[in-house]
Amino acid sequence: MNTTTQTFTSRARSILDGLRERGEFKFLQTVDGPMDATVRLRSPDGTSREALCFCSNNYLGLANHPEVIEAGVKGLRDYGGGTASVRFICGTFTPHHEIEERIARFLGVEASYTFVSAWTANEAVFPTLCEPQDAIISDALNHACIIDSIRLASVIKKGVSRFVYKNNDLAELEAKLEEAKKATAPGNGVIWVVTDGVFSMEGSIADLPKMRTLCDRFGAMLVVDDSHGTGVMGRTGRGTHEHYDMPGKSVDIYTGTLGKALGGAAGGYVAGSREVIDLLIQRGRPTLFSNALPVTVACSASKAIEILDREPQRVQKLRDNVAYARKIIRAAGFDVLESPTAICPIIVHETAKAIAMSKRLLDLGVYVIGFGYPVVPEGHARLRVQISAAHEPSHIDGLVAALRRL
Ligand SMILES: Cc1ncc(COP(=O)(O)O)c(C=O)c1O
Repeated sequence: MNTTTQTFTSRARSILDGLRERGEFKFLQTVDGPMDATVRLRSPDGTSREALCFCSNNYLGLANHPEVIEAGVKGLRDYGGGTASVRFICGTFTPHHEIEERIARFLGVEASYTFVSAWTANEAVFPTLCEPQDAIISDALNHACIIDSIRLASVIKKGVSRFVYKNNDLAELEAKLEEAKKATAPGNGVIWVVTDGVFSMEGSIADLPKMRTLCDRFGAMLVVDDSHGTGVMGRTGRGTHEHYDMPGKSVDIYTGTLGKALGGAAGGYVAGSREVIDLLIQRGRPTLFSNALPVTVACSASKAIEILDREPQRVQKLRDNVAYARKIIRAAGFDVLESPTAICPIIVHETAKAIAMSKRLLDLGVYVIGFGYPVVPEGHARLRVQISAAHEPSHIDGLVAALRRL
Protein backbone atom coordinates (compact mmCIF):
# COMPACT_ATOMS: atom_id res chain seq x y z
CA MET A 1 0.00 0.00 0.00
CA ASN A 2 1.52 3.39 -0.92
CA THR A 3 1.07 6.38 1.39
CA THR A 4 -1.80 7.87 -0.62
CA THR A 5 -3.69 4.59 -0.47
CA GLN A 6 -3.07 4.48 3.29
CA THR A 7 -4.33 8.06 3.67
CA PHE A 8 -7.48 7.25 1.76
CA THR A 9 -8.12 3.98 3.58
CA SER A 10 -7.80 5.50 7.04
CA ARG A 11 -9.99 8.46 6.04
CA ALA A 12 -12.66 6.14 4.63
CA ARG A 13 -12.57 3.96 7.76
CA SER A 14 -12.98 6.96 10.01
CA ILE A 15 -16.03 8.17 8.03
CA LEU A 16 -17.56 4.67 8.15
CA ASP A 17 -16.83 4.34 11.89
CA GLY A 18 -18.56 7.69 12.46
CA LEU A 19 -21.65 6.42 10.63
CA ARG A 20 -21.67 3.27 12.78
CA GLU A 21 -21.25 5.25 16.02
CA ARG A 22 -24.14 7.55 15.13
CA GLY A 23 -26.34 4.59 14.17
CA GLU A 24 -26.51 5.88 10.60
CA PHE A 25 -24.81 2.97 8.87
CA LYS A 26 -27.10 1.51 6.23
CA PHE A 27 -27.59 -2.23 6.01
CA LEU A 28 -28.36 -3.58 2.55
CA GLN A 29 -31.19 -6.03 3.06
CA THR A 30 -31.19 -9.00 0.69
CA VAL A 31 -34.56 -9.70 -0.90
CA ASP A 32 -35.05 -13.27 -2.06
CA GLY A 33 -38.08 -12.94 -4.30
CA PRO A 34 -40.20 -10.47 -6.25
CA MET A 35 -41.43 -7.16 -4.89
CA ASP A 36 -45.08 -7.37 -3.87
CA ALA A 37 -47.35 -6.64 -0.89
CA THR A 38 -45.09 -9.04 0.98
CA VAL A 39 -41.46 -9.91 0.28
CA ARG A 40 -39.11 -12.72 1.17
CA LEU A 41 -36.08 -11.37 3.03
CA ARG A 42 -32.84 -13.25 3.61
CA SER A 43 -31.38 -13.00 7.09
CA PRO A 44 -27.61 -12.82 7.66
CA ASP A 45 -27.70 -16.47 8.84
CA GLY A 46 -28.90 -17.52 5.37
CA THR A 47 -32.49 -18.29 6.35
CA SER A 48 -35.30 -16.34 4.74
CA ARG A 49 -38.67 -15.12 5.91
CA GLU A 50 -41.72 -13.26 4.70
CA ALA A 51 -42.36 -9.61 5.67
CA LEU A 52 -45.04 -7.06 4.84
CA CYS A 53 -43.48 -4.62 2.40
CA PHE A 54 -44.07 -0.91 3.01
CA CYS A 55 -40.84 0.56 1.64
CA SER A 56 -41.04 -0.05 -2.08
CA ASN A 57 -42.12 2.45 -4.76
CA ASN A 58 -44.07 -0.38 -6.40
CA TYR A 59 -47.12 1.88 -6.20
CA LEU A 60 -49.36 0.04 -8.65
CA GLY A 61 -48.21 -3.45 -7.76
CA LEU A 62 -46.90 -4.00 -11.29
CA ALA A 63 -43.35 -5.10 -10.42
CA ASN A 64 -44.52 -8.71 -10.13
CA HIS A 65 -47.34 -8.57 -12.68
CA PRO A 66 -47.28 -11.63 -14.99
CA GLU A 67 -47.73 -9.55 -18.17
CA VAL A 68 -44.94 -7.16 -17.16
CA ILE A 69 -42.63 -10.12 -16.51
CA GLU A 70 -43.59 -11.84 -19.76
CA ALA A 71 -43.04 -8.66 -21.81
CA GLY A 72 -39.52 -8.36 -20.39
CA VAL A 73 -38.75 -12.04 -21.07
CA LYS A 74 -40.03 -11.67 -24.65
CA GLY A 75 -37.87 -8.57 -25.09
CA LEU A 76 -34.86 -10.58 -23.97
CA ARG A 77 -35.72 -13.43 -26.34
CA ASP A 78 -36.35 -11.16 -29.32
CA TYR A 79 -33.48 -8.73 -28.87
CA GLY A 80 -30.92 -10.42 -26.62
CA GLY A 81 -29.11 -8.79 -23.73
CA GLY A 82 -28.88 -5.26 -25.02
CA THR A 83 -27.60 -2.89 -27.66
CA ALA A 84 -23.91 -3.14 -26.74
CA SER A 85 -23.66 0.42 -27.91
CA VAL A 86 -24.79 3.96 -27.37
CA ARG A 87 -27.98 4.85 -29.19
CA PHE A 88 -26.69 7.04 -31.99
CA ILE A 89 -24.16 4.39 -33.06
CA CYS A 90 -26.21 1.20 -33.23
CA GLY A 91 -28.08 1.17 -29.97
CA THR A 92 -31.75 1.87 -30.67
CA PHE A 93 -34.15 -1.05 -30.85
CA THR A 94 -37.78 -0.91 -31.98
CA PRO A 95 -38.99 -1.21 -28.32
CA HIS A 96 -37.13 2.02 -27.51
CA HIS A 97 -39.18 3.89 -30.12
CA GLU A 98 -42.33 2.13 -28.92
CA ILE A 99 -41.93 3.06 -25.27
CA GLU A 100 -40.95 6.64 -26.10
CA GLU A 101 -44.06 7.09 -28.23
CA ARG A 102 -46.13 5.52 -25.46
CA ILE A 103 -44.71 7.81 -22.75
CA ALA A 104 -45.33 10.90 -24.91
CA ARG A 105 -48.93 9.80 -25.58
CA PHE A 106 -49.48 8.96 -21.91
CA LEU A 107 -48.36 12.44 -20.82
CA GLY A 108 -49.97 14.27 -23.75
CA VAL A 109 -46.75 15.83 -25.05
CA GLU A 110 -44.94 15.67 -28.39
CA ALA A 111 -42.02 13.39 -27.64
CA SER A 112 -39.97 11.60 -25.02
CA TYR A 113 -36.56 9.98 -24.69
CA THR A 114 -35.47 7.22 -22.31
CA PHE A 115 -32.36 6.89 -20.14
CA VAL A 116 -30.98 4.12 -17.93
CA SER A 117 -32.42 5.90 -14.88
CA ALA A 118 -34.37 8.99 -13.88
CA TRP A 119 -31.18 10.15 -12.22
CA THR A 120 -29.46 10.16 -15.62
CA ALA A 121 -32.51 11.69 -17.30
CA ASN A 122 -32.54 14.60 -14.86
CA GLU A 123 -28.80 14.96 -15.06
CA ALA A 124 -29.09 15.33 -18.83
CA VAL A 125 -31.67 18.12 -18.68
CA PHE A 126 -29.97 21.28 -17.42
CA PRO A 127 -26.39 20.77 -18.65
CA THR A 128 -27.81 20.10 -22.13
CA LEU A 129 -30.66 22.58 -22.39
CA CYS A 130 -29.24 25.57 -20.49
CA GLU A 131 -26.93 28.21 -21.87
CA PRO A 132 -24.68 30.51 -19.80
CA GLN A 133 -27.15 33.42 -19.86
CA ASP A 134 -29.92 31.28 -18.24
CA ALA A 135 -31.19 31.05 -14.67
CA ILE A 136 -32.48 27.95 -12.84
CA ILE A 137 -34.82 28.22 -9.86
CA SER A 138 -35.20 25.08 -7.77
CA ASP A 139 -37.40 23.99 -4.85
CA ALA A 140 -35.26 23.37 -1.74
CA LEU A 141 -36.62 19.83 -1.38
CA ASN A 142 -36.01 18.73 -4.96
CA HIS A 143 -34.48 15.32 -5.46
CA ALA A 144 -30.68 15.03 -5.30
CA CYS A 145 -30.43 14.33 -9.03
CA ILE A 146 -32.08 17.65 -9.89
CA ILE A 147 -29.69 19.43 -7.55
CA ASP A 148 -26.72 17.69 -9.16
CA SER A 149 -28.04 18.46 -12.65
CA ILE A 150 -28.17 22.16 -11.75
CA ARG A 151 -24.68 22.04 -10.23
CA LEU A 152 -23.36 20.32 -13.35
CA ALA A 153 -25.03 22.87 -15.62
CA SER A 154 -23.36 25.69 -13.73
CA VAL A 155 -19.97 24.05 -14.28
CA ILE A 156 -20.47 23.06 -17.92
CA LYS A 157 -22.30 26.24 -18.93
CA LYS A 158 -20.41 28.80 -16.83
CA GLY A 159 -22.61 31.78 -16.10
CA VAL A 160 -25.88 29.98 -15.37
CA SER A 161 -27.46 31.66 -12.32
CA ARG A 162 -28.92 29.42 -9.61
CA PHE A 163 -31.69 30.17 -7.13
CA VAL A 164 -33.39 28.06 -4.45
CA TYR A 165 -36.77 28.78 -2.85
CA LYS A 166 -38.23 27.28 0.33
CA ASN A 167 -40.25 24.15 -0.26
CA ASN A 168 -43.56 25.04 -1.92
CA ASP A 169 -43.19 28.71 -0.90
CA LEU A 170 -44.63 30.48 -3.92
CA ALA A 171 -44.06 33.99 -2.55
CA GLU A 172 -40.38 33.15 -2.38
CA LEU A 173 -40.50 31.60 -5.85
CA GLU A 174 -41.97 34.85 -7.14
CA ALA A 175 -39.16 36.82 -5.50
CA LYS A 176 -36.58 34.49 -7.07
CA LEU A 177 -38.26 34.91 -10.45
CA GLU A 178 -37.83 38.69 -10.07
CA GLU A 179 -34.14 38.18 -9.27
CA ALA A 180 -33.70 35.69 -12.09
CA LYS A 181 -35.25 38.11 -14.55
CA LYS A 182 -32.57 40.64 -13.68
CA ALA A 183 -29.85 37.97 -13.89
CA THR A 184 -30.77 36.63 -17.34
CA ALA A 185 -29.92 38.34 -20.59
CA PRO A 186 -33.06 40.16 -21.82
CA GLY A 187 -34.66 38.45 -24.80
CA ASN A 188 -32.03 35.74 -24.84
CA GLY A 189 -31.70 34.00 -21.48
CA VAL A 190 -34.21 31.38 -20.39
CA ILE A 191 -35.53 31.09 -16.83
CA TRP A 192 -36.16 27.51 -15.70
CA VAL A 193 -38.30 26.61 -12.69
CA VAL A 194 -37.92 23.02 -11.53
CA THR A 195 -39.81 21.02 -8.95
CA ASP A 196 -40.61 17.49 -7.91
CA GLY A 197 -44.32 16.81 -8.57
CA VAL A 198 -44.49 14.71 -5.39
CA PHE A 199 -41.71 15.33 -2.87
CA SER A 200 -40.15 11.99 -2.17
CA MET A 201 -39.45 12.41 1.53
CA GLU A 202 -42.50 14.52 2.49
CA GLY A 203 -45.14 12.95 0.26
CA SER A 204 -46.40 16.50 -0.33
CA ILE A 205 -47.20 17.87 -3.79
CA ALA A 206 -46.07 20.94 -5.69
CA ASP A 207 -48.68 23.59 -6.42
CA LEU A 208 -48.41 23.23 -10.18
CA PRO A 209 -51.34 25.50 -11.17
CA LYS A 210 -49.91 28.47 -9.27
CA MET A 211 -46.40 27.66 -10.48
CA ARG A 212 -47.68 27.61 -14.07
CA THR A 213 -49.29 31.02 -13.59
CA LEU A 214 -46.06 32.45 -12.18
CA CYS A 215 -43.99 30.89 -14.95
CA ASP A 216 -46.29 32.43 -17.56
CA ARG A 217 -46.08 35.83 -15.91
CA PHE A 218 -42.28 35.74 -15.94
CA GLY A 219 -41.89 33.83 -19.22
CA ALA A 220 -40.26 30.85 -17.47
CA MET A 221 -40.11 27.16 -18.43
CA LEU A 222 -41.66 24.73 -15.92
CA VAL A 223 -39.85 21.42 -15.38
CA VAL A 224 -41.50 18.73 -13.22
CA ASP A 225 -39.90 15.51 -12.01
CA ASP A 226 -42.97 13.37 -11.34
CA SER A 227 -41.15 10.17 -10.38
CA HIS A 228 -43.45 9.64 -7.36
CA GLY A 229 -46.56 11.11 -9.02
CA THR A 230 -46.68 8.95 -12.15
CA GLY A 231 -49.14 6.10 -11.73
CA VAL A 232 -50.27 7.61 -8.42
CA MET A 233 -51.71 11.08 -8.90
CA GLY A 234 -54.77 11.99 -10.96
CA ARG A 235 -57.76 9.87 -11.91
CA THR A 236 -55.84 7.84 -14.52
CA GLY A 237 -52.44 8.04 -12.84
CA ARG A 238 -50.92 10.47 -15.32
CA GLY A 239 -49.37 12.40 -12.51
CA THR A 240 -49.48 15.52 -10.40
CA HIS A 241 -50.70 17.71 -13.29
CA GLU A 242 -53.72 15.42 -13.72
CA HIS A 243 -54.43 15.70 -9.99
CA TYR A 244 -54.94 19.42 -10.70
CA ASP A 245 -56.86 18.78 -13.96
CA MET A 246 -54.08 20.39 -15.96
CA PRO A 247 -53.52 19.21 -19.55
CA GLY A 248 -50.24 17.44 -20.34
CA LYS A 249 -48.78 20.38 -22.20
CA SER A 250 -49.17 22.71 -19.22
CA VAL A 251 -45.81 21.41 -18.01
CA ASP A 252 -42.95 22.25 -20.39
CA ILE A 253 -40.71 19.33 -19.49
CA TYR A 254 -41.47 16.17 -17.52
CA THR A 255 -38.86 13.89 -16.10
CA GLY A 256 -39.77 10.59 -14.52
CA THR A 257 -38.76 7.07 -13.68
CA LEU A 258 -39.73 3.64 -14.94
CA GLY A 259 -38.30 2.22 -11.72
CA LYS A 260 -41.24 2.92 -9.43
CA ALA A 261 -44.94 2.59 -10.45
CA LEU A 262 -44.18 1.62 -14.06
CA GLY A 263 -42.76 -1.85 -13.57
CA GLY A 264 -40.15 -1.08 -10.95
CA ALA A 265 -37.02 -2.23 -12.76
CA ALA A 266 -35.04 0.89 -13.71
CA GLY A 267 -35.01 3.53 -16.40
CA GLY A 268 -36.10 7.11 -16.73
CA TYR A 269 -37.29 9.58 -19.31
CA VAL A 270 -37.58 13.19 -20.32
CA ALA A 271 -40.79 14.21 -22.12
CA GLY A 272 -41.81 17.48 -23.72
CA SER A 273 -41.59 19.33 -27.01
CA ARG A 274 -39.85 17.92 -30.09
CA GLU A 275 -37.13 20.55 -29.73
CA VAL A 276 -36.36 19.56 -26.12
CA ILE A 277 -36.06 15.90 -27.05
CA ASP A 278 -34.05 16.53 -30.23
CA LEU A 279 -31.56 18.68 -28.30
CA LEU A 280 -31.16 15.89 -25.73
CA ILE A 281 -30.60 13.36 -28.50
CA GLN A 282 -28.09 15.55 -30.33
CA ARG A 283 -26.25 17.15 -27.44
CA GLY A 284 -26.98 15.29 -24.16
CA ARG A 285 -23.80 13.75 -22.78
CA PRO A 286 -25.58 10.80 -21.11
CA THR A 287 -27.27 10.22 -24.49
CA LEU A 288 -24.09 10.45 -26.55
CA PHE A 289 -21.76 8.57 -24.23
CA SER A 290 -23.85 5.93 -22.44
CA ASN A 291 -25.76 2.82 -23.48
CA ALA A 292 -29.50 2.64 -24.01
CA LEU A 293 -32.16 1.59 -21.55
CA PRO A 294 -31.99 -2.26 -21.42
CA VAL A 295 -34.49 -3.61 -23.91
CA THR A 296 -36.10 -5.93 -21.35
CA VAL A 297 -36.92 -2.86 -19.26
CA ALA A 298 -38.24 -0.97 -22.28
CA CYS A 299 -40.61 -3.88 -23.00
CA SER A 300 -41.80 -4.43 -19.44
CA ALA A 301 -42.24 -0.72 -18.69
CA SER A 302 -44.20 -0.32 -21.93
CA LYS A 303 -46.48 -3.13 -20.80
CA ALA A 304 -46.85 -1.47 -17.38
CA ILE A 305 -48.14 1.74 -19.02
CA GLU A 306 -50.50 -0.33 -21.18
CA ILE A 307 -51.90 -1.99 -18.02
CA LEU A 308 -52.24 1.35 -16.26
CA ASP A 309 -54.22 2.73 -19.22
CA ARG A 310 -56.39 -0.39 -19.30
CA GLU A 311 -56.96 -0.64 -15.53
CA PRO A 312 -57.40 2.82 -13.98
CA GLN A 313 -59.07 1.01 -11.06
CA ARG A 314 -55.52 0.23 -9.84
CA VAL A 315 -55.05 3.95 -9.20
CA GLN A 316 -58.35 4.06 -7.31
CA LYS A 317 -57.36 1.07 -5.19
CA LEU A 318 -54.08 2.76 -4.35
CA ARG A 319 -55.96 5.93 -3.40
CA ASP A 320 -58.34 3.95 -1.13
CA ASN A 321 -55.38 2.20 0.50
CA VAL A 322 -53.61 5.52 1.07
CA ALA A 323 -56.67 7.06 2.76
CA TYR A 324 -57.16 3.98 4.94
CA ALA A 325 -53.47 3.79 5.92
CA ARG A 326 -53.26 7.48 6.89
CA LYS A 327 -56.44 7.19 8.92
CA ILE A 328 -55.39 4.19 10.97
CA ILE A 329 -51.73 5.23 11.40
CA ARG A 330 -52.96 8.52 12.85
CA ALA A 331 -55.52 6.72 15.03
CA ALA A 332 -52.61 4.69 16.44
CA GLY A 333 -51.08 7.96 17.69
CA PHE A 334 -48.40 8.58 15.07
CA ASP A 335 -47.57 11.91 13.47
CA VAL A 336 -48.08 11.18 9.75
CA LEU A 337 -47.83 13.99 7.21
CA GLU A 338 -51.15 14.63 5.46
CA SER A 339 -51.42 14.43 1.63
CA PRO A 340 -53.08 12.37 -1.10
CA THR A 341 -49.81 10.71 -2.15
CA ALA A 342 -48.67 7.15 -1.48
CA ILE A 343 -45.78 8.36 0.71
CA CYS A 344 -46.73 8.51 4.39
CA PRO A 345 -43.78 9.77 6.44
CA ILE A 346 -43.96 9.28 10.20
CA ILE A 347 -41.73 11.94 11.73
CA VAL A 348 -39.50 10.72 14.60
CA HIS A 349 -36.79 13.46 14.42
CA GLU A 350 -33.56 11.58 15.27
CA THR A 351 -31.81 9.48 12.64
CA ALA A 352 -30.68 6.79 15.08
CA LYS A 353 -34.25 6.48 16.39
CA ALA A 354 -35.68 6.12 12.88
CA ILE A 355 -33.16 3.41 12.07
CA ALA A 356 -33.76 1.61 15.39
CA MET A 357 -37.54 1.71 14.82
CA SER A 358 -37.20 0.27 11.34
CA LYS A 359 -35.03 -2.56 12.72
CA ARG A 360 -37.64 -3.33 15.37
CA LEU A 361 -40.41 -3.28 12.76
CA LEU A 362 -38.46 -5.78 10.73
CA ASP A 363 -38.27 -8.06 13.77
CA LEU A 364 -42.04 -7.74 13.89
CA GLY A 365 -42.30 -8.77 10.22
CA VAL A 366 -42.80 -5.32 8.65
CA TYR A 367 -40.30 -3.88 6.18
CA VAL A 368 -40.22 -0.06 6.50
CA ILE A 369 -37.12 2.10 6.15
CA GLY A 370 -36.00 4.87 8.51
CA PHE A 371 -34.49 7.89 6.78
CA GLY A 372 -32.19 10.40 8.40
CA TYR A 373 -29.44 12.83 7.56
CA PRO A 374 -28.18 13.37 4.81
CA VAL A 375 -31.26 12.07 2.94
CA VAL A 376 -33.45 14.45 4.98
CA PRO A 377 -32.30 17.52 6.98
CA GLU A 378 -30.89 16.92 10.45
CA GLY A 379 -33.64 16.62 13.10
CA HIS A 380 -36.25 15.54 10.56
CA ALA A 381 -35.64 11.78 10.53
CA ARG A 382 -38.63 9.66 9.69
CA LEU A 383 -40.04 6.27 8.92
CA ARG A 384 -41.23 6.41 5.33
CA VAL A 385 -44.27 4.19 4.87
CA GLN A 386 -45.14 3.61 1.22
CA ILE A 387 -48.47 2.28 0.14
CA SER A 388 -49.18 0.14 -2.93
CA ALA A 389 -52.21 -1.02 -4.87
CA ALA A 390 -50.82 -4.51 -4.17
CA HIS A 391 -51.75 -4.08 -0.49
CA GLU A 392 -55.03 -5.33 0.92
CA PRO A 393 -56.52 -3.65 4.01
CA SER A 394 -55.31 -6.64 6.06
CA HIS A 395 -51.67 -5.80 5.13
CA ILE A 396 -52.19 -2.22 6.30
CA ASP A 397 -53.76 -3.52 9.53
CA GLY A 398 -50.60 -5.64 10.00
CA LEU A 399 -48.41 -2.56 9.60
CA VAL A 400 -50.37 -0.59 12.18
CA ALA A 401 -50.45 -3.52 14.63
CA ALA A 402 -46.63 -3.56 14.48
CA LEU A 403 -46.43 0.24 14.83
CA ARG A 404 -48.57 -0.01 17.95
CA ARG A 405 -46.10 -2.48 19.45
CA LEU A 406 -43.13 -0.09 19.02
C1 LIG B 1 -38.03 12.54 -7.45
C2 LIG B 1 -37.04 11.52 -7.92
N1 LIG B 1 -36.39 11.72 -9.07
C3 LIG B 1 -35.50 10.83 -9.52
C4 LIG B 1 -35.23 9.67 -8.85
C5 LIG B 1 -34.21 8.70 -9.40
O1 LIG B 1 -34.89 7.63 -9.99
P1 LIG B 1 -34.09 6.44 -10.63
O2 LIG B 1 -34.02 5.38 -9.59
O3 LIG B 1 -34.87 6.02 -11.83
O4 LIG B 1 -32.74 6.95 -11.00
C6 LIG B 1 -35.88 9.39 -7.66
C7 LIG B 1 -35.58 8.15 -6.93
O5 LIG B 1 -35.63 8.01 -5.78
C8 LIG B 1 -36.81 10.34 -7.18
O6 LIG B 1 -37.44 10.14 -6.02
